[in-house]
Amino acid sequence: MTQYQPFWWQTGIIYQVYPRSFKDNNADGIGDLQGIHEKLGYLSWLGVDAIWLSPIYPSPMVDFGYDISDFTDIDPLFGDLAAFDHLVQEAHALGIKVILDFVPNHSSDEHEWFKASRSSRDNPKHGWYIWRDPVPGGGPPNNWLSHFGGSAWEYDAGLGEYYMHTFHTTQPDLDWRNPLVRQAMYDVMRFWLNRGVDGFRIDVLPFLVKDENLRDNPLNPDWQEGAPYYLRIFRVYSENQPGIHRLVQELRQVAEEYSDRVLIGEIYLPYKELVRYYGDNLSGIHLPFNFQLILLADWRAEKIKDLVDSYEATLPVGAWPNWVLGNHDNPRVVSRLGPGQARVAQMLLLTLRGTPTFYYGDELGMHNVKIPPELAHDPQEKSSPGFGRDPARTPMQWDSTLNAGFCSPAAIPWLPVAEDYLQINVEEEKADPASMLTLVHELIGLRKAQPALHSGDYIALNSGTENCFGYIRKWVNQAFLVILNFSDQPRFFNLPDEFKQGRIVLSTYLDREGPVGPVKIELRENEGLIIEV
Ligand code: GLC
Repeated sequence: MTQYQPFWWQTGIIYQVYPRSFKDNNADGIGDLQGIHEKLGYLSWLGVDAIWLSPIYPSPMVDFGYDISDFTDIDPLFGDLAAFDHLVQEAHALGIKVILDFVPNHSSDEHEWFKASRSSRDNPKHGWYIWRDPVPGGGPPNNWLSHFGGSAWEYDAGLGEYYMHTFHTTQPDLDWRNPLVRQAMYDVMRFWLNRGVDGFRIDVLPFLVKDENLRDNPLNPDWQEGAPYYLRIFRVYSENQPGIHRLVQELRQVAEEYSDRVLIGEIYLPYKELVRYYGDNLSGIHLPFNFQLILLADWRAEKIKDLVDSYEATLPVGAWPNWVLGNHDNPRVVSRLGPGQARVAQMLLLTLRGTPTFYYGDELGMHNVKIPPELAHDPQEKSSPGFGRDPARTPMQWDSTLNAGFCSPAAIPWLPVAEDYLQINVEEEKADPASMLTLVHELIGLRKAQPALHSGDYIALNSGTENCFGYIRKWVNQAFLVILNFSDQPRFFNLPDEFKQGRIVLSTYLDREGPVGPVKIELRENEGLIIEV
């Protein structure tokens, strides 16, 4: 029996809000805190336990808030500290936790720290960022590449030095080897924890420590023209370096100064390396994000079963799993898998063992929106055309009014609204008993009500049915069988003995309930079922 530790971040469901795109309250076409406030009732109805807000801090918005010019304030676009405090208070009153994005790897070049750092080599803050002399004869210190194109080094002619930027030239990397930087950033965490935030999602956590000697990264021999330029090298020396786990422990210690807070890490690493972020004896972060369902190229039952089983087998004792289906950096799940499989994917997400994280709008079946080049905003689109993230960041679709209720009809939303918003929106889908939103709402309701689903053991089955995946979730004397058909053909599934008298409680089609057949059960194409005994 799995040890039962009912922290809210274990039994709960996390919902990612991309604040620019959630709800605009002041008619400037950009979402804001007041807008989120307005929609807390919806989030509470949906049944989510926590919201994670992508960055809301002052920012020149080159990387849409991930370039921060003040870590301890709110950008006027979104509101102010009073509006933030009010939001936290109201969310808490509804039983919804608030998780902020913490972006420790870099600041904006407009941050006071960086302005001081680049003012002279003698400035006390010079060593807060990573500065190096050109190599003899000129040129950047090594071959590392920026995620947003070109070298990861930018020359400052005034200083005669290069500074490192893993992302945009306007996002200089802080030097986490400098104890003063660490203390300052821990104080940033405390600033928000003191205001009552329930935890952080930590941006690009494995990037904080770089190779001490800044060695060249090896070239990727498989890189091809057209793929994002930064993938030309393997990040052997620029990511996941020795020393990172000691830092992770320090971050955890800051969280431990408070009660019941959670640390979640953005980490794109294979399981073996990923689970190290739980730390020795679970002294690291609580939830290293598990992105494998997003990254899986081959959405087939065998592959998904392998993923789940290898994750379960790799987790350290007592470590709590988690699953993510979408976020602001990746194509939306409907666009990756199609609408039929997106429903199966939601059933998978909400019945696997581990904390599920939703991306706003995925509960409606929102899909990527094609953004005409002249409307593109994302720096990644500019550096790697075709790989931009704007298509997955379009305004939330609330209703059938112009601009989908995201902003006033008179305003111009910062990104275009999907053309099919008349069908795909909260108001329409709430009223439709077969909609994606109804499915997600029922799945969440079931998960929350049933300990087997939020806390039970996971038992994999070898179904023997092509492209179908079945597993059992068990808790004391309660058990659920989940069977998922990943194909677009009907399939027969052999029921395990204990489920032959079972009852269907939910189909992804939302049209059947009741006793199962005696031996086999037919799954329609793209159908998932939850069966209870
Ligand atoms: C993370 C964020 C992404 C951002 C990058 C740089 O990967 O999720 O949106 O561009 O960090 O901060």
